[in-house]
Amino acid sequence: MSQPQPRRTIRELPDVLISQIAAGEVIERPASVVRELVDNALDAGARHITLRLLGGGIRLISVEDDGCGIPVEELPVALKRHATSKIVSLEDLESVATMGFRGEALAAVNSVSEMSLLSRTEGAATAFLLDGQTGEVRPAARAVGTTVEVKELFFSTPARRHFLKSENTELAHCIEAVRRHALVRSEVSFAIWHEGKIVEQWRSHPGEAGWNQRLADVLGEDFVASSVNIDFRSGPVHVRGRAGTPDAARARADQQFAYVNGRFVRDKVITHGARSAYEDVLHGQRQPVYVLYLQMDPTRVDVNVHPTKIEVRFRDSREVHQAMRHAIERALAVPRAQLLASGDIALPQGSSGTDTAASFLSPTPSAPPLQSTWSQRGMAFGADRTAEDPAKAMADLKALWGNADQVQEHAPSFAQSPANGVSMLSRNENAAQEWPLGRAIAQLQGVYILAENSQGLIVVDMHAAHERIVYERLKQQLDTTQISSQPLLIPASFAATPQEMSTAENCSDVLQQLGLEVSALSAKTLAVRAVPTSLAQGDAVELARSVLAELAQHDAATVVQRAQNEILATMACHGAVRANRKLTLDEMNALLRQMEATERSDQCNHGRPTWRQVSMRELDALFLRGR
Ligand SMILES: Nc1ncnc2c1ncn2[C@@H]1O[C@H](COP(=O)(O)OP(=O)(O)OP(=O)(O)O)[C@@H](O)[C@H]1O
Ligand SMILES: [Mg+2]
Repeated sequence: MSQPQPRRTIRELPDVLISQIAAGEVIERPASVVRELVDNALDAGARHITLRLLGGGIRLISVEDDGCGIPVEELPVALKRHATSKIVSLEDLESVATMGFRGEALAAVNSVSEMSLLSRTEGAATAFLLDGQTGEVRPAARAVGTTVEVKELFFSTPARRHFLKSENTELAHCIEAVRRHALVRSEVSFAIWHEGKIVEQWRSHPGEAGWNQRLADVLGEDFVASSVNIDFRSGPVHVRGRAGTPDAARARADQQFAYVNGRFVRDKVITHGARSAYEDVLHGQRQPVYVLYLQMDPTRVDVNVHPTKIEVRFRDSREVHQAMRHAIERALAVPRAQLLASGDIALPQGSSGTDTAASFLSPTPSAPPLQSTWSQRGMAFGADRTAEDPAKAMADLKALWGNADQVQEHAPSFAQSPANGVSMLSRNENAAQEWPLGRAIAQLQGVYILAENSQGLIVVDMHAAHERIVYERLKQQLDTTQISSQPLLIPASFAATPQEMSTAENCSDVLQQLGLEVSALSAKTLAVRAVPTSLAQGDAVELARSVLAELAQHDAATVVQRAQNEILATMACHGAVRANRKLTLDEMNALLRQMEATERSDQCNHGRPTWRQVSMRELDALFLRGR
């Protein structure tokens, strides 16, 4: 065992060491420097920002901006710790609108690199250059704005330098740091140079349309084409942006961008809220993609909780979680066929331009807009008496429902079909060519329905599609009736943690709304006295525990909903038409119309697609037509 050290005198640390310790928290790698410098440039009102790197940013990071500049007499102050022009009081901090507020970044960077500041303000006769090592200031040449140069990062702290990865990896992190800024500031242009070559350039685009363009520039056209617009208010939280359709999900969570009041954040509440919105439509471990901007009163969020400001703390995390979930859920619910018909989502430009059979059954339809008529394609289709008759279509689906043995009692009769479904049918009464999912032409091997629309061929997985329709019906029915609660004959008690005890006490109202009654039996024991009727067969303690855990963090409605949805999904699977059942054309058409009107009908209950479009171009390519 080591002997206790003799006591040393308490001393104040030297300034440089204090800054180096602070830098340990703020500056992890070149990308952290890039983030801080671009933050500063944006705070200074820059319209054009140029980043130049050498050696992945390890040898040189230079950020040039055309912002307001720093007056010569303030140059040395800018490098001091706790020196800032952005706040002066605690009130300022609580409503801070700038990226920076601590007056720490430049001091931290300066303590672990060779830094210089070159800056000129409006009206100044010349620019001035400050050497961060010597503190020397001298006149220099430059237009209005600021250039910060950071050389040999961590040269004075070799231990840190050893943690750096390859130049390419560090470069990728630097680019990612600028991407995060670029996605939220489309009015600012960004250019990134590495070793004298330009590696990224994003021109400025003003306004709403410009923002979509910026998303396309940074994340690719595909991102915009396969995502839906989001603009949703929930209490004090406003969520805007774009969320990818389930088809666009990726193996990695590398396209999830969330911003709170313009600041990029990585936040558990936000990620979890988004994830739960996809729960019902995403297959397996796939990761959704999104770029979402949350706007709320600055007093509802504390940005001063993490050294790099990448984490925040919400005053009410439940309201944020709910806003995220509902915003995305609502937007995703609209069937793609409806969005395409209304022009709310764009078709990817020329994604079938490859013209290979490999793009056969591409998940994203890629043909001319739906409005193009049959005659334009030179393919008049024979009059079909039933496809244009909504009443007949309804009767047909009613017949389908009648065959759905297991769910008969749960299945709402067709007369109660959702309002939008009915209007959809009647709106298109005389315009069969406008039906996004087209007109049924055949059934294939008892598994697929084939239909033709203006773009070509539609292939529908009959069972998967019908399963979703039944499932959505059941959910809707449950939503409109209040969650009914069933008292347990014998209350189920369990040993609770202090956290669970206090949540049960503080949230009894919410619990009750969810159909749960949980109360204290003793100081360390909770008893479940009632559960939602639909979940009465399940494990009451397990349900209560997961609801309490969720409630402590987010909004517990998700747990109950998830448990209920699982049951409904099982019921729906039994109720949906089986494979190998012969459908008449009328029945098939009825199913197509129902899909167009049913929320989330693009995915089956397990997140797999229910239909695919094969465009005429893709078919032509298969037969080498037009070559
Ligand atoms: N590119 C720039 N253009 C104009 N002024 C700048 C620029 N960079 C820094 N400054 C000035 O220098 C000050 C110190 O910058 P620094 O980044 O150290 O602190 P901050 O941005 O105020 O707070 P934080 O530590 O949270 O970033 C800023 O408050 C600002 O006045
Ligand atoms: Mg700063």
